[in-house]
Amino acid sequence: MGLTQDPNFQKLQDWYTAHALNLNVRHMFEADKERFNKFSLTLNTEDGDILLDYSKNLITEEVMKMLIDLAKSREIEAARERMFTGEKINFTEGRAVLHVALRNCSNTPIMVDGKDVMPEVNKVLEKMKGFCHRVRSGEWKGYTGKAITDVVNVGIGGSDLGPLMVTEALKPYSKGGPQVWFVSNIDGTHIAKTLAQLNAETTLFIIASKCFRFTLLDTQTSAEMYNRIFLISTAPVLNILLRLDPADVQEFSPFIQLLCYIFSSGFDNFEKLLSGAHWMDKHFRSAPLDKNAPVLLALLGIWYINFFHAETHTMLPYDQYMHRFTAYFQQGDMESNGKYITNHGARVNYHTGPIVWGEPGTNGQHAFYQLIHQGTRMVPADFLIPAQTQHPIRDNLHHKILLANFLAQTEAMMKGKTTEEARKELEASGLSGEALEKILPHKVFQGNRPTNSIIFKKLTPYTLGALIAMYEHKIFIQGVMWEINSFDQWGVELGKQLAKKIEPELKDTAEVHSHDSSTNGLINFLKKNFA
Ligand code: F6P
Repeated sequence: MGLTQDPNFQKLQDWYTAHALNLNVRHMFEADKERFNKFSLTLNTEDGDILLDYSKNLITEEVMKMLIDLAKSREIEAARERMFTGEKINFTEGRAVLHVALRNCSNTPIMVDGKDVMPEVNKVLEKMKGFCHRVRSGEWKGYTGKAITDVVNVGIGGSDLGPLMVTEALKPYSKGGPQVWFVSNIDGTHIAKTLAQLNAETTLFIIASKCFRFTLLDTQTSAEMYNRIFLISTAPVLNILLRLDPADVQEFSPFIQLLCYIFSSGFDNFEKLLSGAHWMDKHFRSAPLDKNAPVLLALLGIWYINFFHAETHTMLPYDQYMHRFTAYFQQGDMESNGKYITNHGARVNYHTGPIVWGEPGTNGQHAFYQLIHQGTRMVPADFLIPAQTQHPIRDNLHHKILLANFLAQTEAMMKGKTTEEARKELEASGLSGEALEKILPHKVFQGNRPTNSIIFKKLTPYTLGALIAMYEHKIFIQGVMWEINSFDQWGVELGKQLAKKIEPELKDTAEVHSHDSSTNGLINFLKKNFA
């Protein structure tokens, strides 16, 4: 039975048709003093509490109950168990999904093909610990015998955004490590500008790619630049390509994307990041669905995407260190759930992954919040902020202002401003008559804009790990409910294939006629302008 045939989906649909237009969150807050207590969740982690307040959503207790019922009938609990027990749920690639194994600090066995993967994970972690220590202490030397001062992560997509996001978010914890650089774009500018600032003798290059076949042209081409320089890669073919001494190549495959963060922050902090993620894994696996943060976030998304037909979801971290957090989850969410073919090979008749976007607050407030407040579209938003800043400058004044903005924005989005309120304000400012009536409609805010507020004590490695895992599981649950495979990314293949065909066509000056007239026209224009 497909999602939209599910009686629990139809129940929600009927409820939506009958009541959704009348939902007014401001009135619901006024009518129920317990609303915050009913629709918020405090997660007591080992490194401070994380509060998820979802009370400013267009929901009632009845809606939440129906969403939980839908989650149950979509069998999310069984799917969750299949992931945690190493089943090959990425069925289009015949692979288990083992990110939870990499941070399985409890060390409970995770069996894949009848074999516990944990001993191998632990072996690699141990090896990395030693290697990290040798790089950070200067014991491990570059090719002329000098200690490493800089590490360059060469990767793209998740293999760039992941390490970049984590390294940036946890900069305050990076004392004593090498400086870390990121090269992702095949655009030579990115490499050239980075190399111009580096000394090859003291620089270590990490070729971060989850792909053992190492087929990605972007990363491969960038890697060729580093011939004869020390690098770490998981790809055997790369070692041949670059004629590397096997002694220089470390087999850190499962963690390759986080290696630069480990070098920069040290292994202790890396272990804390894993522990935080593991805490969230345990919460996700064991908490009842109506008290389960990733499940609640996923269900609220389903409510807006599949019933209100919201097209986008915005993530707004109020923390400068988290400035790549949204970009990372834009990739994580859109690449995982941007799919229209179900697990049964049919086309969906409902929307799947949203367009994910956002910028850190308060910058976003002065860029795109206007559209969220008074635009014609619904933009469900997640607001995130730490209670404590890493820089309590000027007696914490800056952070207090940041917090005030965070709180004010979600309040404004929920409450809006009625015509009466706007009229009173205008009258108080001395306006009356025609002038007042003319400006009045522009000053009214409809409100009723849905937001989640996520507040955590401080942005520590542990808490960041927990937040990352929370969103990963949210994406997983939505994928299960939409019946899509969140773990492959075939949609990016076609462009790669075509680029391989076009690249040789750019080598000479001959006119090209092998494509559609637009692509031919573009290629031929470029060729004329190469000289
Ligand atoms: O092309 C998409 C993709 O495979 C992403 O899934 C991934 O994050 C990125 O490219 C880099 O892939 P890899 O780590 O295999 O080099």
